[in-house]
Amino acid sequence: MHSLPPLMSSTTFTMISFVVTLLLTGTRASPLTRRLDNGVGVKPALGWNNYNAGLSASAESALAAANAFVQLGLQDLGYTYINLDDGWSTMARDADGNLVPDPNKFPNGMKNVSDQIHALGLKFGLYGDSGTATCAGFPGSQGYEAQDATLLASWDVDYWKYDNCNTPSGDSQPRYETMRDALLATDRDILYSLCQWGVDSVWEWGASVGNSWRVGGDITNNWNSVANIAASNAGIASYSAPGGFNDYDMLEVGNGGLTEAEERAHFGLWAICKSPLLLGTDLTKISDSSLAIIKNADVIAVNQDSLGRAASTFTPSGQAAPTSGQLYPYWSGPLSDGFVIGLVAADGVGTLNASFADVPDLGAGTYSWTELYSGKTGSGDGVSWTFEAEHDMAIFKVTGKVPSQSSSAVSTSATPS
Ligand code: GLA
Repeated sequence: MHSLPPLMSSTTFTMISFVVTLLLTGTRASPLTRRLDNGVGVKPALGWNNYNAGLSASAESALAAANAFVQLGLQDLGYTYINLDDGWSTMARDADGNLVPDPNKFPNGMKNVSDQIHALGLKFGLYGDSGTATCAGFPGSQGYEAQDATLLASWDVDYWKYDNCNTPSGDSQPRYETMRDALLATDRDILYSLCQWGVDSVWEWGASVGNSWRVGGDITNNWNSVANIAASNAGIASYSAPGGFNDYDMLEVGNGGLTEAEERAHFGLWAICKSPLLLGTDLTKISDSSLAIIKNADVIAVNQDSLGRAASTFTPSGQAAPTSGQLYPYWSGPLSDGFVIGLVAADGVGTLNASFADVPDLGAGTYSWTELYSGKTGSGDGVSWTFEAEHDMAIFKVTGKVPSQSSSAVSTSATPS
């Protein structure tokens, strides 16, 4: 029991506590309470973008992806946005200052593509840049924000990725706010995706400006890049919440630079960390194994969980703490109806174990679990998985505490498939 200092009355003490609580709550709550409320992007975006696939930003690639969404059953799983990246416009604005869709890539104009995508029940996204030119040298929106936002709305665009090339020096936040306000001033709800590469600590203010914010530079098609993105951003998980999410960049699943096991870990880490899941491959050529990964409804459901809280690392007792920049094997996060635990064979094959007692906010007890890639189920006081391939991942959804406390941890050996 703490006793009050003798010279302080209980009233004074209560007042001081109240002020301290207010200050602390105000500081902590501000990034979460002042979130952009534009009616969209409440959950991480599910979609596709042509860039990682090396496909052109054209009507043809957009419509092929849209048709694949329908034919492959991706639409039924919630994949919605068909987004075109850099290079959809001509190199110059027209006489009125408007951006012009490249007539070779959009022979029937932009609205026609947007209409066809909407007719399939999907949504349409485009890319722009907050500087004078895009990264590939096409016109940027600096000084044209209101005009460009109006044009996007006239094409019924649903998603705007806004890049950071060829920008003036100085704080990036005002530039991104100018476009936010221009989009809000249109009559359309447009998901606003800040492609800002994690500079100026964007996660600290991104939620008041956009629906997602890139947390770093561009992903490349290899395991080191995937591992590095996941490892580097575990510390900023708490900034993701409904309406605004850390964006780990577009997926490389299907592009041949990752093993099947690595594709499971890539998709799984992005999913549990509540990153947007933007497919970045040619869906007309995707392999069955990659398709099975991106079609895992249970992993998608973790990503889309209404609680919207990103998983982060935890340290089981007896294990070394995470090392900066190195992918850590142990991940967990709360769900609206349970917990998710991720085990990643980051350092090679073998068995990984985690006791529920070591999982933050879960705690000791006997729980039921399902491993989401294999469908295996069990119950016990922890999870354990034996990996036969390095860099593989097992994702456990942990639910209901089992009332009668059975004693032993249940372990299962298998490779998720
Ligand atoms: C930047 C972005 C990428 C992509 C390219 C296009 O590098 O970070 O995601 O949009 O520009 O040029």
